[in-house]
Amino acid sequence: MRFKGKKVLITGASSGIGKQAAIDFSKNGVKMIFLVSRSGSKLEELKKMLDPKCDTVVYPCDISKKDNVIKMGKEIQDKYGQIDILVNNAGFGLYGTVIQQTIEEIEEVTFTNYLGMVYCTKVFIDSMIRNRTGHIVNVASLAASFGIPGIAGYCGSKFAMLGFSESLYHELKGTGVGITVVSPIAVRTNFFNNDSFKGKPTHKIGYMLDPKKVSKSILDASNSRRLEIVVPFYVRSAVWLKHTFPYLINPIISNAFKTM
Ligand SMILES: NC(=O)c1ccc[n+]([C@@H]2O[C@H](COP(=O)([O-])OP(=O)(O)OC[C@H]3O[C@@H](n4cnc5c(N)ncnc54)[C@H](OP(=O)(O)O)[C@@H]3O)[C@@H](O)[C@H]2O)c1
Repeated sequence: MRFKGKKVLITGASSGIGKQAAIDFSKNGVKMIFLVSRSGSKLEELKKMLDPKCDTVVYPCDISKKDNVIKMGKEIQDKYGQIDILVNNAGFGLYGTVIQQTIEEIEEVTFTNYLGMVYCTKVFIDSMIRNRTGHIVNVASLAASFGIPGIAGYCGSKFAMLGFSESLYHELKGTGVGITVVSPIAVRTNFFNNDSFKGKPTHKIGYMLDPKKVSKSILDASNSRRLEIVVPFYVRSAVWLKHTFPYLINPIISNAFKTM
């Protein structure tokens, strides 16, 4: 019951990590949960799986569209008041080198993964600041710290998410509001199921986390003072190595994910 009385909004709740986080929040005493993604029917299915003691609101929304997010923020807060925990989780990746990808494909990833998070943060943060309480959890990736060949647009969106979150983390000191980034390695979800990943080096990733492991970190993040939680925790040493000895680590990344 660690989230007793809290209102939680999760973007990208229809699948994978977001879906598991919704299930786990609902088991931990939240008062209300708002499920957001484009697919209303999948969210309705998920609603049936959640603890009936928790009030669930399904809100289909494409978070890459600024006007839709502004409308969502207004409608939800006018009717239900402040959101206590905002989980910015919606996101996707498209495989293709920078030369192969179109500007529009890179824009699509950026608008969802980075700007979608910015829009949601902007519409829900004011009431958190006013009430001096609340927490934002941004689901980034290890790709927020490593530029992996073949997914430059995705890595760019996640580096941007981490940089934005780090600035905001400092700005929020003393306001009563917190922000924590959760950065997992590869996770067993529908993420890699789009056609662009078929037969590509990312398919060779042998070990993938269970979404339950990432969901646990999201719940831990929602009242953590930390800026970033890397999942699993020991992979943080790889981030340190990359920043400290880039000339040793970058050739390994280059070879492991050869694109051409
Ligand atoms: N799986 C991994 O290996 C991995 C590793 C590190 C980080 N992550 C991150 O974890 C997050 C969740 O991904 P996942 O692995 O759970 O993948 P997933 O199973 O494919 O789920 C992605 C979710 O995002 C939603 N979504 C996508 N575009 C959206 C949009 N424009 N507006 C609203 N919702 C949208 C999807 O719902 P609809 O289709 O219904 O809109 C879906 O619920 C992503 O941010 C991803 O970058 C994943």
